Parts: sequence; C-alpha cells; structure tokens
Amino acid sequence: MNKKYYITTPIYYPSANFHIGHCYTTIIADAIARYKRLTGFDVFFLTGTDEHGQKIENKAKDAGVTPQEYVDEIVDNAKNLWSSLGITYDKFIRTTDDYHEQAVQKIFEKLYNQGDIYKGKYTGLYCTPCESFWTETQLVDGKCPDCGREVHEVEEESYFFKLSKYQDRLVEYLESHPEFIQPESRKNEMINNFIKPGLEDLCVSRTTFTWGVPVTFDPKHVVYVWIDALTNYITALGYASDNDELYQKYWPANLHLVGKEIVRFHTIIWPALLMALDIPLPDKVFGHGWLIIDGGKISKSTGNYKDPREYIEEYGVDAVRYFALREVPFGNDGNFSEESLINRTNADLANTLGNLVNRTISMSHKYFEGRIENKKVATEFDESLINLVNNLTNVVEEKMSNLRIADALDEIFEVLRRCNKYIDETTPWILAKDENEKDKLQTVLYNLIESIRCASVLLQAFIPTTAEKIFAQLNTELNNYESASFKENNVFELNKPEILFARIDIK
Ligand code: MSP
Repeated sequence: MNKKYYITTPIYYPSANFHIGHCYTTIIADAIARYKRLTGFDVFFLTGTDEHGQKIENKAKDAGVTPQEYVDEIVDNAKNLWSSLGITYDKFIRTTDDYHEQAVQKIFEKLYNQGDIYKGKYTGLYCTPCESFWTETQLVDGKCPDCGREVHEVEEESYFFKLSKYQDRLVEYLESHPEFIQPESRKNEMINNFIKPGLEDLCVSRTTFTWGVPVTFDPKHVVYVWIDALTNYITALGYASDNDELYQKYWPANLHLVGKEIVRFHTIIWPALLMALDIPLPDKVFGHGWLIIDGGKISKSTGNYKDPREYIEEYGVDAVRYFALREVPFGNDGNFSEESLINRTNADLANTLGNLVNRTISMSHKYFEGRIENKKVATEFDESLINLVNNLTNVVEEKMSNLRIADALDEIFEVLRRCNKYIDETTPWILAKDENEKDKLQTVLYNLIESIRCASVLLQAFIPTTAEKIFAQLNTELNNYESASFKENNVFELNKPEILFARIDIK
C-alpha cells in the first residue's frame, strides 16, 4: 500500500527580516509532515521562495546589485531559518530555478494557444518614481503608499487569463467539495464575497519591469505574479519537464497550507488555472490565522518583533515550535508576545512535561537504580491512565485529520497531566517507605515510564528535539508509531535524568 501525502507551504517572498509570524505556516506544515511520516505515509513536503517582481527589482537597484545577486543572498536567510527550526522539507523551490522558469513559459504558451490567455489593456494607478502599480485601496490619502507622491492612471498592454470563464465551474466545485477549503467559514466568504459578485479576468503579464519570466512569444512582457507563483506546486514536481515522475507520484496535493490573506488566490485563481490545464485539483486548502501582536499583524514596518533565531537561542527550538503549534486556535488568530512564549514554555514544557519526566526518572534511579520492569501489582488508578494512553493515537489522529493541531497537542498533554495526577494519587515516596510495597512502587514507575514513552512517540511530530532527548533518557529505541500503545513487558535501563526545560524567569 502506497499512502502518499503531498503538503506545501506558500513560497515566501525572500527577506532578510523574517519574523515569528513567517515561521508559523512552516512550523505547522512541518508538524503535519512529520506526523504523516510517523503514521506511515510517503510524504513530500515542499517549500521555497517567490523571487520575481517589481519590489525585488527595486530593492536590488537600491542595493546596487543585480536582482539575481540580491535574491541569492537573502534566500540563504530563509534556508538558515528553516534549518534552525528543524523544518524537514523535501524540496526547496526557487522561482528563479531554470526548470521552474521553463515550465512557466510552457504553461503560459499552452494557455495562450488554447485561448485561455489573451492580449488586452490594463488600466491602473501608477507611481512613476517607484515604478509601481497600486490599487485604489492601497493608496494612502490618495498617494503612493511607498513614497507619498502622486499616482496617475496609465494604460498598459497586458495579457489576461480568462478567469471569468471558470466562474460557474468554480462555484459548482466549491459547493460539491465542502472539504476543499478549511476552515469552512472561509469557503462561504470566497463564494459569496468574491466569486458570486463576478470574477474579472486576471492580468498575468507586465511590461513595466523586467525581473520575471519572459513571455516566450512576446518577450517585452514578463509573467506577472500568479502564473509564476502558484504553478510552483506542480513545477517543483517536474510538471512540464522531461522528468515528471514526482508529479505522477504526488500530484494532486493533499494539502496547501496558506495564511488567510492568500486563501483567495489558492481557492479561486489556482483551481481555475488547474481547470484550464486540465489537471486534477488539490484535496484541500487550509487558511490559517495569523500570529498577531497587540491586535495587529506582526510586521517589519512596526518593528514589533525580534529575529526568531533570538528566541530559539534563548528558549530552545521546541519552545518556539510548541508555542506556534499550541497557541493559535484552529483557523483563528493567536497573540504573540515574548511573555506568552515564556508562560507557555514554563507551564506546559517545563512543568507538565519536563517535571514529569524528571521526577519519574529520578525516582526510578533513587529506588531501583534506574532498572524498571512491570511487577504487575495493580493500583486502583492504573486503569484510567492506561486507557487514556491506549486511546491516544486514535484521538490524535482524529484531531490531526481535521488539522486541529493545537487540539492534537492538547490530547498528548492530557496524558502527561494524567501522569502527574497519577503520581499524586499513588504517592510513590510513601510506597517507598514500606519494604512490602516495593513491587507496587516499581509497577507505578513502570506505568509512568511506559505512558511517557507512548506520549513521546507522538511528540516526535511536534517537538522532535525534546522527544529525542526523552527517548535518550528512557534509553529505548521503541519510538515508532506501532509501539505507541501501552506494553506490559518492556524493561527499562534508564539513563540519568537531565532537565528538559529549565523554568524561565520573566525579566
Ligand atoms: N509569496 C506569497 C505566496 C505565494 S504562494 C503561491 C506570500 N509570501 S509571504 O512571504 O508574504 O508569506 C508567506 C506565508 O507567511 C503566508 O502563508 C503568510 O500568511 C505567512 N505569514 C506572514 N506573516 C504572518 C503572521 N504574522 N502570522 C502567520 N502567518 C503569516 O504571501
């Protein structure tokens, strides 16, 4: 049985100033990818960078370098950030990669030849010094939002994609595939606010800048934004190249994970393009909420953030991952502050998880020199703990299949909280005072260690570095998904306890 899972993040605008909000999509995608691998899927996880366009061209000019030199330098910043977050992507696509540019050209030609792209005139508000087009709503006090100068209406020759032609098919598709857009509220927004009022044809080329993929049959035009950006999801797999093995294997995508502001492009333009190309549509587009600060989106212009690597260095990679995965409720926005990062880390990672592991391993060393087996002397509290553990893979699967990542994590922590309660209930330190209770004491510790082990199997998807440390302390290699149910006959030769998360003081 070949269970494949193709998951993508958006391709990022290259930047030297990524913030924790940027990391959000990628951390979630990584947790899903790791979870799918853990549960036996053949996963292909794609991320990358969206490198063309006027803005990059302008920035390169300001920096006195070519656009290619400019992007080459900052793309490394993204790769470096993803590596410090432990992101396990299978491919990193750059829209400046040759194979991508060639495929985009072929796609553009095909759509033109079959009549889905035509030449027309684009009218827009243009700022000459900035060489940028703006929409009415982007203007600030009727002026250019970048430099504050006058804009004027200009007409430009452009190619258009016949988006309007696909309007009815789109509505029909979205209505007959209620799972396609998640959360569902966003589906209604797309249909009622954007599609039903009428789709206009889409401008897909520009002549006012050159940093883009040239249109082969009319090279003063470069392909503008969406045909270049969205198609990365298929060109990365070799679509329209000599070798499309990956495309045959992994397309259609199981999940495009995107921020809520780009759901529209992924659920209207992208499906319409795929319909035009006669390619099957992806299974699902999930539009997640943002990490916000003081009610506003984290942004470079407000300067309300640190480089995420500073948080990683200070609190550890899993503190940052855990925060992103746990703090934002399904599809909604979540607040970010350094204080809430610290509070989460202290409450869940240092207390619930870290203390539990530390106390359990320490007691095992103190009372049994670290060698623990199941003496099978039951207490009245065992059954409810073991039942909870044995149900864990099911409830986590149920949450993960609905992309309820924070809830899935909470289910794992429910087991950890239950373990802490089990320690209070069974009071091992009192059992330890009675020679006749030695076997019961060892059983209690066995139950705890086995429960921690099962929970840690699942934690590997979310906080992999910590899970690895726990397995090292438990000194066991039983960490595969199939082993995530309570076993009666393991024997543990534990290593020395080491603190997983030290409590952080708020400065
Ligand atoms: N290049 C386009 C996507 C093209 S996809 C074919 C783009 N790039 S981006 O760099 O601006 O954004 C990349 C991702 O980061 C998006 O999913 C976006 O929602 C996410 N985030 C950027 N800031 C964010 C927060 N503050 N919080 C959560 N995610 C946000 O859009």
